Amino acid sequence: MAYLKPDKPEKVFVPALREAKEKGEKLVCLTAYDYPTARIVDEAGVDIILVGDSMGNVIHGYGNTIPVTLDEICSATKAVKRGSHRALIISDMPYGSFHTGDDEAVRNALRLMKDGGAEAVKLEGGRNRVGLVKRLVDEEIPVVAHVGLTPQSVHKMGGYRVQAKTADAAKTLIEDAKMLEEAGAFAIVLELVPREVAEIVTNELSISTIGIGAGAACDIQVLVLHDLIGFTFGRQPRFVRQYANVSEVITNAITRWMDDVKTGNYPSEAESYGFPEEARKEMKA
Ligand code: KIV
Repeated sequence: MAYLKPDKPEKVFVPALREAKEKGEKLVCLTAYDYPTARIVDEAGVDIILVGDSMGNVIHGYGNTIPVTLDEICSATKAVKRGSHRALIISDMPYGSFHTGDDEAVRNALRLMKDGGAEAVKLEGGRNRVGLVKRLVDEEIPVVAHVGLTPQSVHKMGGYRVQAKTADAAKTLIEDAKMLEEAGAFAIVLELVPREVAEIVTNELSISTIGIGAGAACDIQVLVLHDLIGFTFGRQPRFVRQYANVSEVITNAITRWMDDVKTGNYPSEAESYGFPEEARKEMKA
């Protein structure tokens, strides 16, 4: 298989994000949850890989991110780590892994870094997570914050809707972002917020904004890989631009293989193993 060669082969570390922002250079981030996709994403030159709890939707079929466990994220992170050499690897703190006290949250984040090989963790929440972000950063754990639509709050929010649509809500989100920057987060995900609000946050913060459904002003764009390559089911949100139809490619391959089996075209002699001549003679003797 021929992979595209990244034009920037050096390993991406946390400080590279700030340097890119200062230079006005856009970075890109995609999700991956396993070895082969991590290899493809990394070798294509993507700067950041997020082992996101979106795995709950796209690979486990849970319908939301709530049931995703620390074990699942940790195991996925290990596989992603083995498949990537250049990209910065960020692992999501799943629902329940940082809600029962700061010590427990630190233990869980350390597990993602020590056992999984994560190079940073991401957690959802605004001002209510400021103390925890400070604590994690104090323990040498690089943290990405996540505001706007926070899918782990799906039940509280009552669905997946654009956030910060009123002046008050926008002011609160901007304040939250500033507080999380002050607490030590090195980047912040802005999910499903109006592009004007994302632009203000991007301009007012010195840390990088990672946008998804948040317009073009963000320093970094992130997408769920499965959405980008058309390996999902159902209607996609408006911010998803689908660049391939992998579901169709897989269905075609399976259909052709089934036809070949049923018509006797698979496997051919070249796709099976002959019994050695010597052994055949011995069998007859
Ligand atoms: O879990 C995830 O993939 C995410 C991105 C959508 C930002 O949090």
